[in-house]
Amino acid sequence: MREGLLQGKKGIIFGALNEKSIAWQVALKARKEGAELVLTNAPVAIRMGTINELAKITGSKVISADATRMDEIENLLSEGMKIFGGKFDFILHSIGMSPNVRKDIPYEQTSYENMLKTFDISALSFHRVLQTAYKLDALKEWGSVIALSYVAAQRTLSGYNDMGDAKALLESIARSFGYIYGRDRKVRVNTVSQSPTDTTAGSGIHGFDSLIDFSERMSPLGNASAEECAEYCVALFSDLTRKVTMQNLFHDGGFSSMGMSLKAIEQYQKSFDECDCDDK
Ligand SMILES: NC(=O)c1ccc[n+]([C@@H]2O[C@H](COP(=O)([O-])OP(=O)(O)OC[C@H]3O[C@@H](n4cnc5c(N)ncnc54)[C@H](O)[C@@H]3O)[C@@H](O)[C@H]2O)c1
Repeated sequence: MREGLLQGKKGIIFGALNEKSIAWQVALKARKEGAELVLTNAPVAIRMGTINELAKITGSKVISADATRMDEIENLLSEGMKIFGGKFDFILHSIGMSPNVRKDIPYEQTSYENMLKTFDISALSFHRVLQTAYKLDALKEWGSVIALSYVAAQRTLSGYNDMGDAKALLESIARSFGYIYGRDRKVRVNTVSQSPTDTTAGSGIHGFDSLIDFSERMSPLGNASAEECAEYCVALFSDLTRKVTMQNLFHDGGFSSMGMSLKAIEQYQKSFDECDCDDK
C-alpha cells in the first residue's frame, strides 16, 4: 500500500462547521492521507455545529478560537504545538462571514461597521493567523498555508456584496505574507479559488442556486465539489508542490477563463423564446 501523501504531517484546520463545510472535507482527506490534525472554530460555531463529530472521526482535538481575537489565535497555535510536540506543517484558513450578506443589506447601502466586520473575519483573520504563526515560529520549513477564496475577488458577481472586496484583500495578504514567509522560513502561502459550493456560508449569498447553475453551465469541467477542493488542498499541503507560493489558484472547472459557453447561451436563448417580451 502506498504511504499517504501527508504521512507524518501535522496541521491546523479552521472552519469546519458541519458536514457540508469545505474544511470538513479537507480534514477527512488530510487524515486519510496520514495527517494528524487540530480542528478549530469560533466558540459559537462549536456550540451550534457538529465539529466534535469530525474530531471523533479524525481522532483530533478541538480548540476554540475566534479568528478576530489575537489572544485566542495565539493560544490555539501554542496549544497546537503542545499537542503535536513541536511545529506543524500546514494550516487551512476556511473562514468567511459578512453581516451584509447575512442581513441582505445591498452593497450600496452598507454600514461601514458591517463592512469592517466582513474584512476583519474574512480577510484580516488570515493576516492574524500568519502573523502569529510567524511570531511563534510555529510552521516547519516547507510548510504550507492555504486560504479559500472566490472569483468575486477578480470579477463582480451580483449578490456577492462586500465578500468580493474581502476576497481581494485575502488574496493580497497571501502574496504579501507569502513573500516574507517564503524568504525567511521557506513556508508557502496560497489561496485556492473554489467553485460555488453548497455550504452554510455559500447558501447565504443572494441568488446562490442560480449562481451554482450558471457556473456549472459555464465551466467546461463543471463545478468543483467540496471533496474535490479537499483533494486539491491535500496536494498543496504535500511535498509535491514545494515551490508553489504567493498564488491564487483557481479550482473551478475552468469557469474563471470562460466568457460564454454553449450551454449558457442555449439557456439564455430559451429565456427569450419562452418570454412574451419586446427584446425577442
Ligand atoms: N461555499 C462556497 O460557495 C465557497 C466558494 C468559494 C470559497 N468559499 C470560501 O470557503 C471558506 C469556507 O466556507 P464554506 O463554504 O465551507 O462555509 P461554512 O459556513 O461551512 O464555513 C465558514 C466557516 O467560517 C467560520 N467562522 C465565521 N466567523 C468566524 C470567526 N470569527 N472565527 C473563526 N471562524 C469563523 C464559521 O464558523 C464556519 O465554520 C470561506 O472562506 C468561503 O468564503 C466558499
